[in-house]
Amino acid sequence: MPLAHWDLLRLSRLWDNPVVFSSEKVISATTRFCAVYGHPIKHSASPAMQNAGMAALDLPWRYLAFDVAPDDLGAAIKGAAAMRFIGLNLTVPHKLLAVDMVDDLDASARVWGAVNTVRFEARTTVDGEWTPLHDVPADEVVETRSVGFNTDADAIIQAVREDLEFEPLGGKVLLLGAGGAGRVAALRLAAEGVGRLWLVNRTKAKAEAVAGDIRQRFPGTHVTVGYPDEPVDLVLNATSLGLKPEDALPLDVEMFDLKQARFAYDMVYRPAETPFLELADKAGLKTANGLGMLLYQGAKALEIWSGRPAPVDAMRKALKKAIYG
Ligand code: ATR
Repeated sequence: MPLAHWDLLRLSRLWDNPVVFSSEKVISATTRFCAVYGHPIKHSASPAMQNAGMAALDLPWRYLAFDVAPDDLGAAIKGAAAMRFIGLNLTVPHKLLAVDMVDDLDASARVWGAVNTVRFEARTTVDGEWTPLHDVPADEVVETRSVGFNTDADAIIQAVREDLEFEPLGGKVLLLGAGGAGRVAALRLAAEGVGRLWLVNRTKAKAEAVAGDIRQRFPGTHVTVGYPDEPVDLVLNATSLGLKPEDALPLDVEMFDLKQARFAYDMVYRPAETPFLELADKAGLKTANGLGMLLYQGAKALEIWSGRPAPVDAMRKALKKAIYG
């Protein structure tokens, strides 16, 4: 089929104008890259958020997304280092696997037992200082390493503080979910000094295991598996329920009346208002969805890579546009 006139016009425009983002920096031989690895990855909003952040900082960097199968994760991390990438984000199902695949762990990854951010570093002498790999000329690199960080855990605290204005210290929290995200949320809230924590999960044994961890590591938090029989400050959904329209509510309203709480946070951000948040809203609670968590973990990752404060507003705007249109 012959090309229509407007097709030809569009092609010629593409030819004349290579890929340009808002920073006006074209991709060239000096462009440096970050990427997110996940499996699947096609719904990730991180490229939109991070490219906006990099452009706002006027960095000659780009952020890509790759579908990496778990069996290929080690090779993919090494490959990125070999190509002098700045760093990586890792998402489901790689966060736990990567703990044993990076060369070194920052305290954040060691404490929370998961890696969602990697920074590549290099040194120019065998016992020299480690510096970000992208800062070292290629012919001066003597050794490289990958360092794993966790920016998810702090993002949970930042999100409930900034988006809900809830102060965790001494607070009472009902946490729904004890999977990967629920476990980190429970431990991080306990570390922040939450006074009482109730854990509810479909698979009760997982909630029991997290409760055991908390009793051992953070004895200052009184933890119970099951629903509270008293008012709480915050109900936090860390299950995946709410992502699909046909999903059940993440909590049993016969067991806990949302009117008994002040704040509701849903880690799900797509749709913007889940049935859980809608119910919480109707019950008069202050609510927020998981967009803030996604934003704050990404902003912290960009700070780790660039050593500069993240342009949070530009990143938030790009994230909202990518997710909600
Ligand atoms: P993530 O890393 O996002 O936390 P995950 O580890 O698979 O993902 O955890 C998903 C969470 O949602 C778990 O708490 C899971 O409950 P189980 O531990 O019993 O699997 C919860 N979840 C997922 N589907 C559910 C469903 N249909 N009903 C109740 N809980 C569900």
